[in-house]
Order: sequence, then structure tokens, then C-alpha cells
Amino acid sequence: MANNKTSVLDIRKAKEEKRKIVMMTAYDYPFGLLADEAGVDIVLVGDSLGMVVMGLDGTVAVTMEHMIHHIKAVVRGCKAPLIVGDMPFMSYNISIEEAVRNAGRLMKEGGCDVVKLEGGVDFAPTVKAIVKAGIPVQGHIGLTPQTASALGGFKMQGKDAVAARRIIEDAKALEEAGVFSMILEAVPAPLGKLVAESVKVPVIGIGAGADVDGQVLVTHDMVGLFDKFIPKFVKQYTQIRPIILEALNAYKKEVRDVTFPAPEHSFKMPEETLAQLKDE
Ligand code: KIV
Repeated sequence: MANNKTSVLDIRKAKEEKRKIVMMTAYDYPFGLLADEAGVDIVLVGDSLGMVVMGLDGTVAVTMEHMIHHIKAVVRGCKAPLIVGDMPFMSYNISIEEAVRNAGRLMKEGGCDVVKLEGGVDFAPTVKAIVKAGIPVQGHIGLTPQTASALGGFKMQGKDAVAARRIIEDAKALEEAGVFSMILEAVPAPLGKLVAESVKVPVIGIGAGADVDGQVLVTHDMVGLFDKFIPKFVKQYTQIRPIILEALNAYKKEVRDVTFPAPEHSFKMPEETLAQLKDE
């Protein structure tokens, strides 16, 4: 383990010390390495991989096997940040016993440090049982992508007072159940502030305004690598698709006009071997 490895306690302390937490997603070794080099606090191997890596329409079809495969790849490259393994849909929804078993699999087989699951009040007993088994849990409330269809789509949550109060109750229930932090997704900025003020554990926002304890973004969104849609709350810090596409087009052209491979990309053969072959 890296001696500068971020712990759950470091994340909790960040809120006490009013230090903003930086979290990003990664799904493979190269992005695990980049996250490590960038020095972010938390790396989430999110089930968003279903959309941004596998090209699915949502996260529902992502399985435990997909998650374990991608967590392992990220863990190989990412040493210092705390690594969160996302529990896929239906891996924690059927029974508490199954939830604990699957949380354990993500840690034991994948190698992540902690797990994340979606849901508030209704999932507090599940969170409590996983935490009791010795596995730190990060909650996820507000817009919960796995159940987006039940919420009316990928829409802002907590618009009216009843819905906003429910989200605050979700946050409190998760804190009571023992989460070390929680994600709050797609809520009005003033509600983000209220939620962050209503609990002692860090609230990490994605589309929850600036007055929360940290931010998370889907990396493929923020670097311009996802081709479908860009949620309102995403800032694109760069556009890497056109850069990669330019390289691929140059490669295609050079293969076709035989300017690649050049002599410096080719292996030489000893003169005498060549001569022998020519003599035969
Ligand atoms: O799966 C994911 O990437 C997430 C983020 C949207 C927080 O849950």
C-alpha cells in the first residue's frame, strides 16, 4: 500500500478542516494511473462504465463481473487515492445478506477500498449491515441513475419542498447507518448546501452546486471522450476525441500511402542472414 494512501478517515477529516474533496471516475489502468498522478482524493470505478465504456443506454445492465474486471484494472494503476467500487443494480437490492456478500466480492476480488450504493432511507439497513461487516460505504442520493426510470428519467431531483425534505431525510438516514461520505446528484444548489449542512459526513456533489464538501465528475464527460450527451452540470476541461481522431486519421493515411512504418520502426536483419536467404 502506498504510504500516502488516502483513507476513509482522511475523507471525513477533509470536511472538518473545510478542505474540498476531489473525486473522479476511472474504469481502466491508464486512467487509474492518471488519477494517481493528478493527486485526486477519491477514484470511483462507477457503473457509469456501462454508458461511457460499454456504450449501453444506462447502468442497469452492468454486472458484478463487469465491475470486478474494471476495478482490478484501476487498482493496478492507482495507488494513493481512495478507490470506490460501485455496487451494480440488483447486487444489493434483493436481500441484505446478498448485499454484504457482493460488497465483500468487490473488495476481495476487485481490490477496491470501499463500496458505493444508491438509495436513502430504504437502504439504510443494507448500509448498516455492510458497514458492520467491516466494509466502508459511500451513499448516493438525489438522482440515482440505476433507478432513473422510476424517478422520471435523468432529471434534477428535489424540486419541491416535499421532495427536498425527503432528500435531507435520506442524507440523515445514511449518516445514521454509518456511511463515511455520500454522493448527492442533480439537485438545486441551495438544496446541496442544506444537505451538506444537515450531516457531519462529507457530501460530494455532482450537479449539486458549489456549497457541498467536494465534487465528482464522470471523467469521460469532463475530458470530452463521451460522444452521446453532456449533462448540464458537466464542465468539459478538454476535448480529447478530436485529438485522438486526428492521430487515427494520420495513421490510416500513412499505412495506405506506405509512409508508416518508416525504417526507424522496422527491425533490421543481419546482412549475412539476408544473403543466405537470397541464395536459397
Ligand atoms: O457511476 C458513476 O459514475 C456515478 C457518478 C455519477 C457519481 O455514480
